[in-house]
Parts: sequence; structure tokens; C-alpha cells
Amino acid sequence: MIITDVYPPRGNIVIRVLFVCLGNICRSPTAEGIFRKLVEEAGLAESITVDSAGTSDWHIGGPPDERAQETAKRKGIDLSSQKARQVCDDDFHVFDYIIAMDGSNHLKLSALCPDGEHSRIRMCLSFASGVEQKDVPDPYYDDGFDGVFSLLENAGQGLLTEIRQTHHL
Ligand code: 4NP
Repeated sequence: MIITDVYPPRGNIVIRVLFVCLGNICRSPTAEGIFRKLVEEAGLAESITVDSAGTSDWHIGGPPDERAQETAKRKGIDLSSQKARQVCDDDFHVFDYIIAMDGSNHLKLSALCPDGEHSRIRMCLSFASGVEQKDVPDPYYDDGFDGVFSLLENAGQGLLTEIRQTHHL
């Protein structure tokens, strides 16, 4: 199938995680950076891969927002090599976890998702502890990058715990 032409075979890789927001320049690149660090610290870089994408095509090829990069850098995470891309059809076959940042992202992903693959799509904050809100707020207009970073750290820890338990890693 096309999938094996586009993506390398899994090899040792067990689980693939894709974080999705609207622009792929604020929330999902930050989530990708945080989660990659958590995976590396857990010694699971060979078993879990991490990527991010946007539902829109607005920023394709561009770097993460400067404010997202600066916030992550203060926490020891470098986002500078990331480039925005748009969600594509293959993603729904390749990624085991497709993590939507908010309800609007979830709706868009659900509309694009082929039959039988919907269980891959999850809400990011469903993995966070002690958090009532459902959506990771979009920091693009209100500059709430520190709050978003904390939510994504919390959710990332919960997601890693679930993956480790579910897949015996
Ligand atoms: P993100 O934030 O979805 O977290 O990357 C946004 C980035 C850009 C825009 C909106 C939200 N925009 O309107 O260009």
C-alpha cells in the first residue's frame, strides 16, 4: 500500500503518536516537543515516535511560533527544527494515537477519518489529571503560552502512562 511507500516500515517502533491543532505552530509543536522529551527520559525513544500536524494548511513548512519556541526553550525544549505540515489521509492508518487539542480539531479529524479508524482520535486533555476543561486553549491571539505548556506537560505524562500500561512498555 501507499503507506509503506511514504513511511518506513515500523521495525522496532511500537507506537506512533501525532498531536494535532489548527495551525501546527503553537499547541501541537509544543506538545510534540514535550512528549518527545518525556519519551526520551523514559528510555522509550526506540519504541514511541512523535509528530505533529495542523488541520489547516495555513503555515505549511513554517517554524513554530516564536512565542511557543521561547516558552519551550525556557523549559529546556528546542522546537526550532520542527516544520508545520497538514494532516493527511495516511495519518489515520499510520498513527496509533491522534491527539486533538480542542473540540474543533476533533470534529475536523473525525470528518476526515476513514471508517473503522476513529478510535485513534483522542482529546489531549482527557489524559491530564485534575483538569476540568476539555480544550487546550489556542494561545495564538491571547499569548497564554505558559498555561498551555503546563496543560501539555500534564497531558503528556498521562498519555505516556496510558501507552506504557496499554502496550506493556
Ligand atoms: P495552533 O494556533 O493551532 O495552536 O497552532 C494557531 C496558529 C495560527 C493561527 C491560529 C491558531 N492562525 O490564525 O494563523
